[in-house]
Amino acid sequence: MMLSTEKTAISSTQFLQETLEGLHAEPKRMYSKYFYDETGDQIFQQIMAMEEYYLTDAEMEIMKDQADGIADAISTDGTGFDLIELGAGDATKSIHLLRKLLEKKHDFKYYPIDISEHVIEELSAGLPVKLPLLNFQGLNGDYFDMLRKACEISDRKKVVLFMGANIGNMSVGEAQQFCINLKDILSPEDILIIGFDLKKNPKQILDAYNDKSGITRSFNLNLLNRINRELNGTFDLDAFDHYASYDPETGSCKSYLISLKNQLVHIDDAEVSFSKDEYIYMEISQKYSLSEIEDLADSSGFKVVQYFSDRRQYFVDAVWKFA
Ligand code: AVJ
Repeated sequence: MMLSTEKTAISSTQFLQETLEGLHAEPKRMYSKYFYDETGDQIFQQIMAMEEYYLTDAEMEIMKDQADGIADAISTDGTGFDLIELGAGDATKSIHLLRKLLEKKHDFKYYPIDISEHVIEELSAGLPVKLPLLNFQGLNGDYFDMLRKACEISDRKKVVLFMGANIGNMSVGEAQQFCINLKDILSPEDILIIGFDLKKNPKQILDAYNDKSGITRSFNLNLLNRINRELNGTFDLDAFDHYASYDPETGSCKSYLISLKNQLVHIDDAEVSFSKDEYIYMEISQKYSLSEIEDLADSSGFKVVQYFSDRRQYFVDAVWKFA
């Protein structure tokens, strides 16, 4: 068993730079990767437990019921591999796959990568208790930096898990570039497993990002609070409101914070002005059809070899190989 954590958290200089750059842009925007401080992690846990947020249950069902099939899809021959999870979170879904791989006596090492230092700390404490036989190393930082690091550590076959519809936090164009970048780092025998939230009834999608209890609202507002705390900001949280939208044509679900009045906000030494009704674009959660998933694979040099879906067909984990 191995227990070590690389500490290379995102610096507060980068947080400040990107925040100011986003707020000086037209239209204003923020970066959803900064949602996940300790409070943000907790609110996201609440989101995943919400009645309206069907995504987690759907992917959990896939992982619980089809771990065996996914394990078989991963290791075609008996050679050892590195299982790298991008945005591992609390690993409550992937743990079913990990358990199955251990049960089947596969030779692998697990590398959970997460942008949140807190998440990696929790995993490093919890995984040895839940899966004493698991060989793992947590990596805290940006996906690509940490993926390159994992490739430096070992040259074994890589299986990259990118679950939870995290790819939805990119526009389709950004997702394509992301997959092209992944292909550059990976080798021809490597495997990708990507979780996609599927297009479905628009009302059901919108409800998942516009819950009545206001949890998603506080998830967005927490980023303003984080800026106040970590970057010496002066956001008045009562002067912004959450607005979510879903467009069934493009499959884009987007969230915004709306300024409820003309106001000035200070961040570090900078000053940012907001007009009444001006929006800050906070996050995209892109939804896909199966043919759009195939187009994305095609356009980045991969092919879809298998889909694992829940009974209600809300969600898929797609297995990709080099084309
Ligand atoms: C973690 C990116 C998959 O987009 O569904 C949930 C984040 N934001 N509710 C998503 C999120 C608002 C979530 N992902």
